[in-house]
Amino acid sequence: MRVRKFFAAGCLLFLCAVVCACGDERADRLERVQVGVACYNQSDTFLSGLLTSFRDQINGLGNDSLEITVTVRDAAGSQKTQNDQVRELIDAGCNVLCVNLVDRADPSEIIDLARDNDVPIIFFNREPVAEDLMQWDRLYYVGADAEQSGIMQGELATDAILENSRIDRNKDGKIQYVVLEGEAGHQDAIIRTENAVDTLRSNGIELEKLSYQIANWNRAQAQNRMEQLIGQYHSRIELVLANNDDMALGAIDAYKKLNYTESALPVFFGIDGTDVGLEAIVDSTLAGTVYNDKEGQAEAMAKLSVAVVTGEGMDAVKFEKDRCIYLPYAKVTAENAGEFIRKGQQAAS
Ligand code: GAL
Ligand code: CA
Repeated sequence: MRVRKFFAAGCLLFLCAVVCACGDERADRLERVQVGVACYNQSDTFLSGLLTSFRDQINGLGNDSLEITVTVRDAAGSQKTQNDQVRELIDAGCNVLCVNLVDRADPSEIIDLARDNDVPIIFFNREPVAEDLMQWDRLYYVGADAEQSGIMQGELATDAILENSRIDRNKDGKIQYVVLEGEAGHQDAIIRTENAVDTLRSNGIELEKLSYQIANWNRAQAQNRMEQLIGQYHSRIELVLANNDDMALGAIDAYKKLNYTESALPVFFGIDGTDVGLEAIVDSTLAGTVYNDKEGQAEAMAKLSVAVVTGEGMDAVKFEKDRCIYLPYAKVTAENAGEFIRKGQQAAS
């Protein structure tokens, strides 16, 4: 009898030990990725889509042994606010940061904070200059190649002009154009404009620049600037090159407001392929856009966030210039817009 009792007690102890050991092991294996995202301005259409996709994708990487949390802060256009937000995110225990700088030339305070606390940073969308990215070996960048988007916009405009002689409405053999630019100093503003215009010229299109206006990626500002331009040039404008879709749509809003008939409208080109931009391509108010692959960028940011914290998967990441990941752009017209609309819907489901 005694022997049996001993045996039973022994079994119980053994079981407890096994259960406890498993518990310990699980606790050991449970890794936490706490991502702090700092965004320059969440009212930006492209960025809000990118952030939605990022949340979806990174949450999809979590499992029993990997707990993922995401905290997003909006700097609403102030670098000082963003510096404070980054400090708060680090204090709250974030072990990786995704930073969309307000002023891409001013990341030093954020880099110092991160380095002092050994929290790696993945910059995204607003590219720091190369020297800043070299300040510490746990700094990365995810984005896209501005030059490529400009070239593609120029090619789309070239094709449209060669296919449709009515774009040269005054038949002077030249295309009178205006540019709506994003923020001064942003890598996607000047570089897109230069490359779009150079591409048109090198394809033999004769151009006459009427004007350019800065509208900070913003639809309402672009509408306002365009109303001024229309007031100045009336129906002389034949082509509008906008550095993003929201500004192209703002330009279209201006013509609508002023009741311009379709035959007096210029052709409009954007960049991004936002949901509203793609709709405008389908109904032919926007002639073309260049897809800024937010799903691809979000996926790269999500995988890299996990890899830099856990150390796993780092070998599989293909960097350019040691620390950067650039996702390719793609041309969008009425012919293939459906594919991109489906891509967005699939990613959302
Ligand atoms: C660009 C994008 C713009 C705007 C900007 C913000 O890449 O085309 O629409 O979102 O980033 O930094
Ligand atoms: Ca002309």
